[in-house]
Amino acid sequence: MTPRNIFVTTALPYANGSFHIGHIMEYIQADIWVRFQRMQGHQLHFVCADDAHGAPIMLKAESEGITPEQLVGRIAAERKKYLEGFHIAFDNWHSTHSPENTALSQEIYGKLKAAGLIYTKSIEQFFDPVKQMFLADRYIKGGCPKCSAADQYGDACEVCGAVYAPTELKNPYSSLSGAPPVMKSSEHYFFKLSDARCRDFLKQWLDEAGHLQPQVANKAREWLTGDGDKALGDWDISRDAPYFGIEIPDTGGKKFFYVWLDAPIGYLASFKNYCAKKGIDFDRFLADPTTEQVHFIGKDIIYFHTLFWPAMLHFAGKKTPNQVNVHGFITVSGEKMSKSRGTGISPLRYLDVGMNPEWLRYYIAAKLNASVEDIDFNPDDFMARVNSDLVGKFVNIASRTAPFLTRLFDNRLSAQPGSGDAEAKLLGEVRASRDLIKQHYEQREFGKALREVMRLADLANEYLAQTAPWARAKDPALQASVQNICSTSLEVFRLLTIYLKPVLPELAQQVEAFLNIPPLDWSHADERCALGGSQINAYAHLMTRVEEKQLDALLDIEKETAKMTNTTPHPATPAKAGVAPPPQPSPASAGEGVISIDDFSKIDLRIAKIVNAETVEGADKLLRLTLDVGALGTKQVFAGIKSAYDPATLVGRLTVMVANLAPRKMKFGMSEGMVLAASGDTPGLFILSPDDGAQPGMKVK
Ligand code: MSP
Ligand code: ZN
Repeated sequence: MTPRNIFVTTALPYANGSFHIGHIMEYIQADIWVRFQRMQGHQLHFVCADDAHGAPIMLKAESEGITPEQLVGRIAAERKKYLEGFHIAFDNWHSTHSPENTALSQEIYGKLKAAGLIYTKSIEQFFDPVKQMFLADRYIKGGCPKCSAADQYGDACEVCGAVYAPTELKNPYSSLSGAPPVMKSSEHYFFKLSDARCRDFLKQWLDEAGHLQPQVANKAREWLTGDGDKALGDWDISRDAPYFGIEIPDTGGKKFFYVWLDAPIGYLASFKNYCAKKGIDFDRFLADPTTEQVHFIGKDIIYFHTLFWPAMLHFAGKKTPNQVNVHGFITVSGEKMSKSRGTGISPLRYLDVGMNPEWLRYYIAAKLNASVEDIDFNPDDFMARVNSDLVGKFVNIASRTAPFLTRLFDNRLSAQPGSGDAEAKLLGEVRASRDLIKQHYEQREFGKALREVMRLADLANEYLAQTAPWARAKDPALQASVQNICSTSLEVFRLLTIYLKPVLPELAQQVEAFLNIPPLDWSHADERCALGGSQINAYAHLMTRVEEKQLDALLDIEKETAKMTNTTPHPATPAKAGVAPPPQPSPASAGEGVISIDDFSKIDLRIAKIVNAETVEGADKLLRLTLDVGALGTKQVFAGIKSAYDPATLVGRLTVMVANLAPRKMKFGMSEGMVLAASGDTPGLFILSPDDGAQPGMKVK
């Protein structure tokens, strides 16, 4: 076998937020494929990076009073605990805000320009005269041109469903400053995708087998060849300053690449960064025609990866992707994830409540296939699959047989496991599936691969039920046969461990230690009776079952979050089937615990900017905060958040305070209000931050 050279990436996550379960699912999918390929002996480099640029990141940093670099740095710093937590083995994690990416983006742009595929054109766009910046459509709001509903976004009305251009809004205003935007023209740079050369190339690339799943290729072909104004147009690749991005050469710092131009180039930048560290020749590796470039992405970013990205690479004289593998979205109990509603499963909480990351890897793998279908995380199904398949079928093979070898045979296996008809038949079946399972992994049909493994585990369990070593062990006349039965079972277990290793790397390591064997790779499945005559270690527990109370801990906390972030009262949906929602007090019966809107409006909640934060001598829980509350002036507040925040990181942030709380004289001085923070049953204290655009002194209602 000639080893393949493969370069694998996952989509670069935006650097303005933490990972959610959707990111983790994508990484698990790619990581399984990567580990599988490595087990085949192929050379593979697996990289990712933060997608750092763009207006949302710039504005979010501004609202927190920090630089975009600081924001990106904060998010980058927390990536590791997720990746390690779920056993995702990237070789490198980099950033699009990096020297490598600047150089590569400018180089690729230069080549596209030299190929005659870049031109400039003046376009008219909304401009915020207060913020002094051009506004992307999502920052413009106004009245719906059709039904006049107020405060609608620039593209569609949430009230009547009308779709329109931002220029059609009635009394448009900038959601950043509130000011009415003005039309202003500016020179933009375009990538000429309508050029016949681009269209011909893309048509051919889309038709070449193996690049895309059939349904993805069809979608991309529709976009490419759509008629009239649906046809793929030229691509606006520039943004005006101020913009957090990479400068377009020779524009005097006035023009930047649109984030989607430099983001995919970040794949190469991360790999280049890795090559420098490892002494790999980056250019040579990518110039090698046998090198395969493989991307894993979600279905929402097909457009960029199947049209813009291959065309950019091709006309810059670079390798084009060999595979763009698209997955669907993960939903939780059938619901789309929504950060604002607090649904979804927090990956960190999953780890915090002590759930085994390999349960999730197994569950996601069992649901994945090569199509673009969405998959659902269903708690009951999760528990059933892990407990009955993984623990009940697979781990069971070892836990039911190894103790007899310890007790009766000093942990020694028989010289030739598999002797006997039933034994030879069982081992033969398990070995025979090797290529089928391999093929399933190769084609990302992980669900099929695991179903086949579980079919084999069923056979092994049937064999055990028939041979009943536990009964024989009690009968001195039959005891000798126990060694061969248990040895055969452990040989099956070893083979199944190979088949599961891409999904369960840590469990496989434990098995290797238990069986006293070197790290397993795929070729070890060819060995006949690798364990014959060997001595193993005593069986130690390999994997526990999922417990109901762990899922409750995971999901109940989710419900708490949902309650906290809901603005309107609504009956909480039971997160798990069979769990009744808590009784909801009806708003009409203003009984205990229920307040009227008038009660609520007595509380003067305000956006406050933390202009100073410091520790208080003699107080181990408090920080002294100085808050700028706009028109209400400056207030001093003592907040019990010292355990959770380094004061230096708070300065400049916006938060929410109760501004009309009676001032309270404390040992350390006057406290003139209260800062709001969230906490729950698990550790952690979290102060609130408003969305982009909120200003100190604004009322919260
Ligand atoms: N920054 C861009 C990608 C640039 S790639 C050059 C981006 N970032 S993202 O953070 O929004 O998404 C990162 C990846 O997560 C994408 O592949 C996206 O499809 C995937 N997912 C986001 N939500 C998801 C689910 N609910 N389920 C599965 N994957 C999802 O897009
Ligand atoms: Zn409307």
